[in-house]
Amino acid sequence: MMTDEKKKVNLTIDGIQVEAYEGDMVLDAARRAGIDIPTLCYHPAIGPIGSCRVCVVEIENGRGLPASCVTPVREGMVVRTNTEAVREARRTVVELILASHPQDCLQCERNGRCELQALAMRLGIRETRFHREKEHKECDTSSPALVRDADKCILCGRCVNMCADVQNVAALGFAYRGTDALVTPMFERGLAESKCVSCGQCAKICPVGAIHEKEEWQKVADLISDPNLHVVVQVAPAVRAAIGEEFGIPAGTPVTGKLATALKMLGFDAVFDTQFTADLTIMEEGTELIERLKTKGPLPLITSCSPGWIKYAETFHPEFIPNLSSCKSPQQMMGAIIKTYYAKKAGIDPDKIVSVSVMPCTAKKSECARPEMNASGRRDVDIVLTTRELACMIRQAGIRFQDLSDGEFDAPLGISTGAGTIFGTTGGVMEAALRTVYEIVTKKPLG
Ligand code: FES
Repeated sequence: MMTDEKKKVNLTIDGIQVEAYEGDMVLDAARRAGIDIPTLCYHPAIGPIGSCRVCVVEIENGRGLPASCVTPVREGMVVRTNTEAVREARRTVVELILASHPQDCLQCERNGRCELQALAMRLGIRETRFHREKEHKECDTSSPALVRDADKCILCGRCVNMCADVQNVAALGFAYRGTDALVTPMFERGLAESKCVSCGQCAKICPVGAIHEKEEWQKVADLISDPNLHVVVQVAPAVRAAIGEEFGIPAGTPVTGKLATALKMLGFDAVFDTQFTADLTIMEEGTELIERLKTKGPLPLITSCSPGWIKYAETFHPEFIPNLSSCKSPQQMMGAIIKTYYAKKAGIDPDKIVSVSVMPCTAKKSECARPEMNASGRRDVDIVLTTRELACMIRQAGIRFQDLSDGEFDAPLGISTGAGTIFGTTGGVMEAALRTVYEIVTKKPLG
């Protein structure tokens, strides 16, 4: 962001006079001037890496073709972003990446959302002049949450930076050099044996299909078709504000009613709302906080709703484990209730119930697989789908989500208060718990 304290720098990009600030990169200055230099390894969430060289430009009186994402602006600099040499260099870089890529786009999980695919299209690449035999690596499917396909990795380094610098986990790193280079957990182990906390940020930032969530939506569709099974679904608070975006509805628009309708159309036998157990969590965590305040600790109380954070604390900061709330997350509370209370009320053998949840986070897939998550005597939540997976299921079924009328979740596990709703926003869990604490302690409703 430009600030007044920084020194102004004047440069020319493609004949346009551009004003930038000391410390800006040529890429930033060009984009602000309306010139969209193509990039691949660059991502604003992690800053420049400078590894792919797709963003090269020509600089008058400069040497070679520098990468604009890591080249600072200079007073009087003259930059050209679309010369023949630049175009040829970019094409060559992308063709070389494609030469060691499986190019199985039609079967790829990222088909249609792949940045490499989009870049090849933008650069008009119709054939590749190069071919390279690359040693095949088996997909790493060891994690309950994520799949790593090293064959598709383009070594951009985004996941490595995200994991180490943003998430502070460093489960992934580079191994070997040159054509043998590889992004992998330590000693080429599977993700399940690494420090990975299943947060899924690597999958979110991967430009291709080299890391993605473990897809299970087709399995869910098949289970729904089995008449001997009773397939129940619960949906997290955040999903109703996110899924509309997949169907062209502005991001953040609540589509709760359409979501309930879609889930019923998909054939789930019961459609419940995780907000019901978010309310239970608030009561439990609120009461636990009051108890800890009375007995002086351990404080501060940290909510245990995020399985990624729990794994992070277990792995890197076990000294904080006593601070974690002893409550289960709303997903796991609902899973236990479905296979005990609901099974009994509905007269259904809990072993015939398939408990599915739709969550905004890949770490929920790991949470439900934890061995202690079996309060019902069996696994409480069988399958977790991400918001994106549910969108795939809805599209595959031919449901025009954006045109649906509003339906409702099933009672009683679909009823909730507004406190459960704010679980979907950052800090919402503790805000809701503290509101409850206020009401319990003061015996007055919060205005
Ligand atoms: Fe600049 Fe990759 S985008 S080097």
